[in-house]
Amino acid sequence: MRSKLMVGNWKMNGSLMANASLLADVLAGMADVQCRAAVCVPAVYLAQVQTLLAGSAMGLGAQDLSAHEAGAYTGEVSADMLRDFAVRYCIIGHSERRQYHAESDVTVAIKAQRALAAGITPIVCVGESLAEREAGQTEAVVKRQLAAVIHANGHCISEIVVAYEPVWAIGTGLTATPEQAQAVHAVLRAQLQAATAHADRVSILYGGSMNPANAASLLAQPDVDGGLIGGASLKAPDFLSMLKAASR
Ligand code: 13P
Repeated sequence: MRSKLMVGNWKMNGSLMANASLLADVLAGMADVQCRAAVCVPAVYLAQVQTLLAGSAMGLGAQDLSAHEAGAYTGEVSADMLRDFAVRYCIIGHSERRQYHAESDVTVAIKAQRALAAGITPIVCVGESLAEREAGQTEAVVKRQLAAVIHANGHCISEIVVAYEPVWAIGTGLTATPEQAQAVHAVLRAQLQAATAHADRVSILYGGSMNPANAASLLAQPDVDGGLIGGASLKAPDFLSMLKAASR
């Protein structure tokens, strides 16, 4: 069985002081946490958070990386640079990057490739907008997004993590019902099964307004292997409560 994986996505939040205080509170409550866990922090805080997490069971993650290997790409951060800070996970193709930074399916697939080549587990995000859901296109959209990553990554595909994040549920307080999430996760699992004999190893996370009240029922679904948590990961008691729900 896949052990659950719970990942906090801090997005563009935090400060040296706030990070230290949040992580002190989270780490102090980790004694009965049995699931895998990580926080994906802004790149400028990787060094600080690497130190704060040293010796703990909490993994370090980044939120994006460059599609390029190295060179004249002002402002970009490469996969190898992330590796210097012992980054274990990197969110790739978050809907906020697809939407505000025009990341295409192809760019996302290349970024996933860069992560894998550097020994970093890409957390590849897929998800439909409200208009796409209402038009009955959910399955087609997530399959198209995942297909690009499968195509570019071949047999390495069993090394990725997938996050299903319906765009309409992100930061809105609207959550997919457990049944809605499971239906999409099953589609993604089947797509992975067609690509690799090891699809059962791939963790498929749910993200979108996950909170202490809805986490347990989402995590009870057979193909929901964990969560990618935005807002609620910035509150230590809420994040810990979800880590504990994933440890049952
Ligand atoms: P919220 O949990 O704030 O809805 O964000 C979800 C998300 O985008 C995680 O990557």
